[in-house]
Amino acid sequence: MTTQIATNVHWHHGQIDRTTRSRILQQTGATLWFTGLSGSGKSTIAVALEACLADMGKLCYRLDGDNIRLGINRNLGFSAADRAENIRRVGEVSKLFVDAGLIVLSSFISPYSADRELVRQLHIDAGFPFLEIFVDCELAEAERRDPKGLYKKARAGEIKNFTGIDDPYEAPTRPEIHLRSDHLTLQQEVDVILAHMKSAGLLGALQQSA
Ligand code: ADX
Repeated sequence: MTTQIATNVHWHHGQIDRTTRSRILQQTGATLWFTGLSGSGKSTIAVALEACLADMGKLCYRLDGDNIRLGINRNLGFSAADRAENIRRVGEVSKLFVDAGLIVLSSFISPYSADRELVRQLHIDAGFPFLEIFVDCELAEAERRDPKGLYKKARAGEIKNFTGIDDPYEAPTRPEIHLRSDHLTLQQEVDVILAHMKSAGLLGALQQSA
């Protein structure tokens, strides 16, 4: 956890809270956190899920590793410390968006368990729903897909610290949802997530207790 540097700062409450915002939007905000190797299918699943949820009248927002690294996190690289800061910031942004009432689909390799646990804890402490979705794909299959040609570059030594090649990926041990993306169709993956969201009460209008 990054130590807070500023002192004498306190959260300022307004008149409109998360419950009111959720009522206006008629949905329950939540973070769905996709973790997995580059090329495992995280972003593809998030895009398809977002379209399905939009059809159901649910407002989502996708946070995606590549996109975020072009903007708010453009000053971060791929060392363990920079990945930790990447995930910490995105965890905080996800939490803010859930507070705003949105369903947040966050797709990041997030290779370190401790970083993912920090994001989970942020949500638990706030009483916000959080689902970790492990997009599990054999390295050989992710490398075969190689949609951005990065595995090829990593094997050639042109990219250092590439996850799965010369940098670690710590697989989740107890994710809420475990998808074998090299065995399921995209529609099956979306259906598994929707079923889980339904049983967790996340497709209803509002969770009063949240
Ligand atoms: S994370 O490890 O900090 O969670 P993040 O999801 O934001 O990573 O970004 C991963 C994306 O950055 C990959 O999908 C890939 O397109 C690109 N990338 C560039 N260099 C690397 C690298 N060394 N390791 C992993 N991904 C990289």
